[in-house]
Amino acid sequence: MNTIARHQIVATINGEATSLEVRPNDVLLDVLRTQVGVKSPKIGCERGDCGSCTVLLDGRTVRSCLVLAVEVDGHEITTVEGIEHDGLTAVQEMLIQQSSFQCGFCAPGIVLSAAELMEHTPHPSADEVREAISGNLCRCTGYEPIVEAVLAAADADTTSGGGS
Ligand code: FES
Ligand code: FES
Repeated sequence: MNTIARHQIVATINGEATSLEVRPNDVLLDVLRTQVGVKSPKIGCERGDCGSCTVLLDGRTVRSCLVLAVEVDGHEITTVEGIEHDGLTAVQEMLIQQSSFQCGFCAPGIVLSAAELMEHTPHPSADEVREAISGNLCRCTGYEPIVEAVLAAADADTTSGGGS
């Protein structure tokens, strides 16, 4: 009988050390959704094209459909659930306020791509926002409402005296 060996890994997922048993060919997207129960990374193309499965790996966006679960042993994974410390982030608030999404399928990936951008560039230009979300396909909105919301969140941060 051909049994596939499982590997024990420990990753910090949304701030919690999480022990998992994974097969060598398990992808992070499936493990997050089925073993960990984190559903915000969405199953889209499953080949790295759409960005709906985006998560942060040690603070950088990756497509979790292209990452093997064994590769994240000892690393930190953050999904949308993990960036909401004291309620929604400013970007999330603004995306909602401006009704930037329609179906919302792309939303978790776009929120994380924006979060990565704002971490390093708190006051981005429109082009920098477009570049940051360029790997996240949205079938509904034409992107402009999303770009405007991210810029508005950066502006609000400036007027409230936040940012660096
Ligand atoms: Fe991963 Fe599309 S599902 S990039
Ligand atoms: Fe529907 Fe982006 S809002 S895919």
